[in-house]
Amino acid sequence: MQEFSRGIRKSSSSLGFVPTMGALHEGHLSLIRRAVAECQFVVASIFVNPLQFGPTEDFEKYPRTLEDDRSKLEVVGVSALFAPDTADMYPLGAVTTVTVAGLGDRLDGASRPGHFTGVATVVAKLLHTVGPHRAYFGQKDAVQLAVLRQMVRDLNFDVELVGCPIVRDADGLALSSRNRYLNVVERGQALVIRRCLLAIERSISAGVLEREILLADGLRVLREEPGVRVDYLEVVDAKTLLPVERVGAGNLVAVAVWVGTTRLIDNFLVGLKA
Ligand code: PAJ
Repeated sequence: MQEFSRGIRKSSSSLGFVPTMGALHEGHLSLIRRAVAECQFVVASIFVNPLQFGPTEDFEKYPRTLEDDRSKLEVVGVSALFAPDTADMYPLGAVTTVTVAGLGDRLDGASRPGHFTGVATVVAKLLHTVGPHRAYFGQKDAVQLAVLRQMVRDLNFDVELVGCPIVRDADGLALSSRNRYLNVVERGQALVIRRCLLAIERSISAGVLEREILLADGLRVLREEPGVRVDYLEVVDAKTLLPVERVGAGNLVAVAVWVGTTRLIDNFLVGLKA
């Protein structure tokens, strides 16, 4: 992988990179299409990273659909697929990790201890291996994007991170590889996430800016679905991920819920189309 990328950089061509864990859907493909439109060469990676899954999480059952993914990547026109195995990425004896202090422990990081150390470590390794000029990430995982921006700044990675809008199903549910865990009833219940965010967006448009009131509005909607358990609902600064008392343009409204045994996340940026 390093040799391939080195060749591209030597020829002064622009190299884009889209890291994924596979089970590709239109959300992933939107990132890849954008990269293909903006860069002469594009590398996509597929690696289900054990380091970012907690001991009781879904690493074992995470969908692995490599052949399907490969065909999709060929259609959108990536230059190369990097699909290392676990022993390639974490050879015996590897002990170095990347922790983004503070940021990595907020929101999803609070619910999933160690998760963002796993993400930052693998993305650092992937960026070093691929060496892209630009790397594309979804706004769907807004906390992940904030953590990675901080890492790139702090550790002087010579790469531009590009955030891309959330892609949704026609009914508003944000696309996620984990949506395939949902049964028909749960798939219906999951729509409450979108209704909750839209209610908060409406309140903000109507001039309600106090965090407390906005969260109460959102929680009232989430309670319409007793099958849905709230992990967090917060209004935060999109960079620091710290709560804000009064919401302003560019702030992040983020939610995580459990629908049955499936954890789903969604968000929007205030005053900007997400
Ligand atoms: P994964 O969940 O496969 O997501 C890969 C990329 O696709 C991420 O940048 C994610 O934000 C983006 N994405 C997922 N669903 C999306 C949607 N509905 N709309 C727009 N973008 C979407 O995120 C990871 O993998 C991993 O943590 C990874 C960064 C690869 C490190 O292991």
